[in-house]
Amino acid sequence: MKILVVGGAGYIGSHIVADLCAKDNEVFVFDNLYSGSVKNIDKKATFIKGDINSEEDLNNVFKNKFDFVFHFAALKAAGESMEVPENYSKNNISGTINLLNAMIIHDVKKIIFSSTAAVYGYPEYLPVDEKHSIMPINYYGYTKKVIEEILNWYGKLKGLQFGILRYFNAAGYDIQGRIIEREKTTANLLPIVLECAIGKREAIKVFGDDFDTPDGTGIRDYIHVNDLATAHLKAMEYLSTNDDNLLLNLGTGYGYSVLEVIKMVEKITKKKIKYSIVDRRDGDPAKLIAISNLAKKKINWEAKYSDLETILTSMWELYRKFQD
Ligand SMILES: NC(=O)c1ccc[n+]([C@@H]2O[C@H](COP(=O)([O-])OP(=O)(O)OC[C@H]3O[C@@H](n4cnc5c(N)ncnc54)[C@H](O)[C@@H]3O)[C@@H](O)[C@H]2O)c1
Repeated sequence: MKILVVGGAGYIGSHIVADLCAKDNEVFVFDNLYSGSVKNIDKKATFIKGDINSEEDLNNVFKNKFDFVFHFAALKAAGESMEVPENYSKNNISGTINLLNAMIIHDVKKIIFSSTAAVYGYPEYLPVDEKHSIMPINYYGYTKKVIEEILNWYGKLKGLQFGILRYFNAAGYDIQGRIIEREKTTANLLPIVLECAIGKREAIKVFGDDFDTPDGTGIRDYIHVNDLATAHLKAMEYLSTNDDNLLLNLGTGYGYSVLEVIKMVEKITKKKIKYSIVDRRDGDPAKLIAISNLAKKKINWEAKYSDLETILTSMWELYRKFQD
């Protein structure tokens, strides 16, 4: 298949590109390199530098006749989205509308869109399934909710067929070692703890140790990026052989606390991680865990590499190369 991967130089996209190339697809990566790295793009893929905010860039890339689009390009920092929502409107909403309109113009009808657990907002029950109400509590989550709604409309009005995949916390690096650059900036817990292990950070802040969890720190569902990649390929296969759309959570049904993460990093890296307990952040739930039964049922997917030790070992294999 001839596939366009928008945002394919990024953390998750580059893993999917590697798997798509390994299966002999003809892959084009379209990315403005805001946060992505060319070095992480599989050599078999064709890289085209461009921006989803430019209709001209999009029209140029769509001169190639694609069978399928994956859309990873977005800004993704929830905290930042509350400070500069206008950047998130432009990139995540307007940019995605440009992409969808270009698909319509060029008669490309199948897309997989990266959505997020942030669309659910504060969990009303656990584990969170796809029927949970959609009430984002940050602007980032809201931008994804808007695009999910537009996809539903474009599906009805324009015959666009889509897969919406709501990831929980993507983590880990390629187990086969095909990814060589780590994320440059990230606000996520696991990379931050590993940055402590390699001496790039002094210490980490743990936001609250008085939650209703066994050790008092927040519990999150981490999903290995290789498991995410497998889900994307299976979702593509589903959309290629069925007429309906997909809306799936991608999580493990299990969670790890902040202190469990720190202890596991200490075990794997044999480094002491300094941390301090500070106040809770607004809106942080004690626990956020997904159930992915629908993904099992619809695309026969379940996580294989998403236990904490496998995730952190795969990250350490990469991070250790950047030690001070
Ligand atoms: N990382 C996670 O834990 C997580 C969780 C849920 C959802 N998501 C979603 O998954 C997707 C991929 O996330 P990621 O972690 O790989 O992020 P990332 O920042 O590593 O990747 C995004 C890629 O898109 C590119 N990009 C950004 N704006 C662009 C634009 N205007 N035009 C062209 N390219 C642009 C960036 O250069 C980068 O290569 C995002 O949509 C994100 O919202 C990520």
